[in-house]
Amino acid sequence: MKRTSTVADLTNSTDEAPKKKSFLEQVSEKLPRFKIPKKTSKNCSKTAESTNSLPSLPEIEPSEHPINNDTPLESSPCVSDTSQLLSSDNNQTIQLSEVREQPSPDLKTAAQTPPPPTDNQGDNAALARQHYNELKEVSLAKRHESKIFNLRGFNNYVKSLTMNDFLARLGPLGKRGATILDLGCGKGGDLRKWGLAKPAHVVCVDIADVSIEQCRNRYRERPTELTYKANFIVADCTRVDLDDKYVEENIPDVEFDLVSCQFVLHYGFESQGQAKRMIKNAVSHLKPGCFFFGTIPNSNYLVKKYLSLSEGSRFGSDVYYVDFLEANRTSFPVFGAKYVFYLDGAVKELPEFLIHFPLLKSMMEDEGCECVLAEPFTDYIYRTDPSTGERTLKDVEVLSRTRGLNDQGTLPESEWEVVACYMVFGFRKLTDEEREQRRDRKRRKLEHAQNIIKMLTKFTTLTYNYF
Ligand SMILES: C[S@@+](CC[C@H](N)C(=O)[O-])C[C@H]1O[C@@H](n2cnc3c(N)ncnc32)[C@H](O)[C@@H]1O
Repeated sequence: MKRTSTVADLTNSTDEAPKKKSFLEQVSEKLPRFKIPKKTSKNCSKTAESTNSLPSLPEIEPSEHPINNDTPLESSPCVSDTSQLLSSDNNQTIQLSEVREQPSPDLKTAAQTPPPPTDNQGDNAALARQHYNELKEVSLAKRHESKIFNLRGFNNYVKSLTMNDFLARLGPLGKRGATILDLGCGKGGDLRKWGLAKPAHVVCVDIADVSIEQCRNRYRERPTELTYKANFIVADCTRVDLDDKYVEENIPDVEFDLVSCQFVLHYGFESQGQAKRMIKNAVSHLKPGCFFFGTIPNSNYLVKKYLSLSEGSRFGSDVYYVDFLEANRTSFPVFGAKYVFYLDGAVKELPEFLIHFPLLKSMMEDEGCECVLAEPFTDYIYRTDPSTGERTLKDVEVLSRTRGLNDQGTLPESEWEVVACYMVFGFRKLTDEEREQRRDRKRRKLEHAQNIIKMLTKFTTLTYNYF
């Protein structure tokens, strides 16, 4: 049963903190910076013009833009909009009403309570495996008949943008010779995209064995186009240590320049243990200075849509729906915040889990990575001209190649709504030197704070003595 903590519960302990800080403590210590604003901040708003560019795509209501590009992520009031999602383990939630009364709760006490066993041992991974295994490969002709033909193309466009973005960050290596991990590669929809970057080696991993087989076949069918070395691994990235798989595949020392995780990471947020395992798998073989990036559902947007419903738990259009089922409207667990997603012809009512982005960021920081990108799709697809402020689509050529727009040069509102449900993310693994510098900076800050406390103590003692 889920335990709901009151703020008082979480603040009244006087226990001393254990010496070695667990992940939970570190996350909890960071919690106070997620303050809840009284109302959705103006900072989050995008003007109508800012989303209205070439070609004309439907607009997203300003209040539904959760992350503001111009605001640093740390201080973005919109990021904190879902701070109600935060708690320190699977079984705790924070009541919205309680948090509102005390916007900066000290959750240290919660951090001192050891978390329960981390895995839910649910059958959601099995459901995902079965679902994706059963998903038929569709011919191009059939794909044309699909209600979401252009939406698929649009998602491919965004994926291509992220891939090109991070390949470019690698410098010359991004043009030839990179080593890439595709985490949750599916049936190999990105094999050809990688081919364009002329990598040296791509490792494809997915939980669905049938998908991996199809992926391998696709690779084998295009020997002249896909000249890179490839490995294909069946594994639940949320439960299996990929190190063991690399040994089995005879690539124990593989090191990645890029780790791409497209529309997959949210399956790992069923439990703390699973999320941690997935993140470790993503970054443990990533070279320092290199990148882990991808696409995930935008939890801020999903939660806002859900909370704006006057009744029921489902929202969507004629091509998709998101159903929060039994979810409590006033509190969400950090891990295991489940909803069901349906997308016409692509996803059949599959359980998925919210990723609270500030938490992901904290977990990534614990793994020595810094956030370099977090934007809703509806912003990321545009480039802004610095002199005029005008926004245009980043790469119309790629968009037309992926057929991301219909004959009218747009996407219908019903499909655009799905686009709005997602965001892009990117993290860079710090070098050892950078990690040392950050540790030093933290140490200095701590010393500074301790000195202030010492001074205040002295001053108080003096004052007492005086009176
Ligand atoms: C929406 S598909 C995306 C596939 C591919 N990345 C793409 O963009 O075309 C999600 C993929 O995640 C995989 N997946 C789900 N849970 C997983 C897990 N625990 N470990 C590895 N792969 C998983 C599914 O099998 C599926 O192939």
